[in-house]
Amino acid sequence: MIAQLSKLDEIQAEAAAAVEQITDAEQGLEAWRVKYLGRSSDLTQVLRGLADLPEEERPALGRRGNEVRQFLEGLLREKSEQLRQAELDRSLSRERLDVTLPGRPVRTGKIHPTTLTLQRICDFWRDLGFQVFESRDVETDEYNFELLNIPKHHPSREMWDTFYTSDENVILRTHTSPGQIHAMREFAPEPCRVILPGMCYRYEQISARSEIQFNQVEGLAIGESITFSNLKGDLGLFARHLFGEDTRTRFRASHFPFTEPSAEMDIECFVCGGEGCAVCKETGWLEILGCGMVHPKVLENGGYDPAVFTGYAYGMGPERVAMLLHGITDIRNFWRNDFRFLEQF
Ligand code: PHE
Repeated sequence: MIAQLSKLDEIQAEAAAAVEQITDAEQGLEAWRVKYLGRSSDLTQVLRGLADLPEEERPALGRRGNEVRQFLEGLLREKSEQLRQAELDRSLSRERLDVTLPGRPVRTGKIHPTTLTLQRICDFWRDLGFQVFESRDVETDEYNFELLNIPKHHPSREMWDTFYTSDENVILRTHTSPGQIHAMREFAPEPCRVILPGMCYRYEQISARSEIQFNQVEGLAIGESITFSNLKGDLGLFARHLFGEDTRTRFRASHFPFTEPSAEMDIECFVCGGEGCAVCKETGWLEILGCGMVHPKVLENGGYDPAVFTGYAYGMGPERVAMLLHGITDIRNFWRNDFRFLEQF
């Protein structure tokens, strides 16, 4: 029995020394537990051997054996707690939370450049007393052409390559001008001042300069004393608002069946200041819109007496305007949904 007792002392001393060397809970400590407390450990052997001892020796050895087991179990608990704490300290110092760091910016959406330009255009006209009037994208031949003084088979229809549906009278509007008729019929015989923003569609070859769908903003003012001077004045004001205080404008005679006289407005190239550059194709001028005095027939179709009322109208493309404002060289970018493009606005 003396031999067993000293064996127990040996186990206790060895286990206590071994536990000091352990640095990781997963493997080191588990191996230690198996070696000193497991089913085939020396301690278990000694305790099993109790049965072979004379009865009077058993209690003393049993007591000492249990003492050693409890001591080892205490070591196990202590060490495992110690390792857990060490791991916690390590991860706390590794993943320290610095509450004074500035927050990460949240990625927000941006407004599409066409929409932005549309908003700027509409804001300006709203301040002049024009109200937004929206009408449908799918139109009849009558509204898109005939009521605008463009009869069937008239050669001027070539200006508007059209998407037809299976019903040849139902088309996608090629410009926002049919909205003029809708607005007039709504307001006549009261004067009206409206802007008509909306998507238009043309059956065209897609290129850097032209898309099959694009926006237009139409303006229409009808009253008893509206003259070409009002048209020039208001559009000049608009150009200076959008392109800068010193922007010069010029009006070139043009032709639209629904206005008489008709004109196109150019602004002095703001890239070269009129000197001539690649943007204005060396002309010094940029074409930005079509306009004119509403044709008497169109006034009549809208429900106004052309002997009493006159009006002006204009139409422009916000994509074109956005291209000029931001130096965008390819109109197809507006529909590409490329973040690198869209995020710049
Ligand atoms: N609707 C014409 C176009 O699409 C533009 C325009 C509008 C011209 C109003 C004159 C008056 O080309």
